[in-house]
Amino acid sequence: MKILRAKDYADMSRKAANIISAQVILKPDCVLGLATGSTPIGTYQQLIKWYEKGDLDFSQVSTYNLDEYRGLTHDDPQSYHYFMRENLFDHVNIDQANTHVPDGSNPDADAACAEYDTIVAAAGYPDLQLLGIGNNGHIGFNEPDDHFSKGTHCVDLTESTIQANSRLFDRIEDVPRQAYTMGTQTIMSARAILVIANGEAKAQAVHDMCYGPITPSCPASILQLHANCVVIADEAALALCPAE
Ligand code: PGA
Repeated sequence: MKILRAKDYADMSRKAANIISAQVILKPDCVLGLATGSTPIGTYQQLIKWYEKGDLDFSQVSTYNLDEYRGLTHDDPQSYHYFMRENLFDHVNIDQANTHVPDGSNPDADAACAEYDTIVAAAGYPDLQLLGIGNNGHIGFNEPDDHFSKGTHCVDLTESTIQANSRLFDRIEDVPRQAYTMGTQTIMSARAILVIANGEAKAQAVHDMCYGPITPSCPASILQLHANCVVIADEAALALCPAE
């Protein structure tokens, strides 16, 4: 695991966007695993700027997002599919047909998850997977548990995740209680992983991800076993980590 120290959110976002850009330039038809949440917004904004300058071409890129709320359609403004269009896809020349998010509108969880596993595997898994990390150490919606998950599956969100995500909803009761998420094994199948984190609320999770025991009670800790994982975090998120 390589840990890169960023000065602040803007610096973290630029560094992350540089790594994603390099991937797209080196392999124009690459497969990107993408994430939602507040953390990657700055990274996506930077990618859009470089696209507008003519430095990036997404026309052959395909993308697979980590997760989606169960019960939300693609057009629901709270859905992750909508988030991705608003924050990236509608602003670059990606072919929308090459963008993929689990189908939250399919009430048949087993079918929706099996279908997603099939298409991610058929794509050969991401060349580069972008990840945020939850305050509780989750990756995607793989919440702390007594075992690591494998493929895409339906999860009950923990109270801390519902609480954290409620800032994006009018009322906490509106936050969906379940989600479909790529499993840990699928995430680990990416050839390279890039984790981004900022802010003091992430400090414990970042410490446990990088230096704690490898345990499903901190799902991100499994990333210590990945052969090519880079963490970019700002000073606040690294506050509990040894200064190297
Ligand atoms: P955030 O979420 O980027 O909104 O903090 C990260 C996550 O929960 O994975």
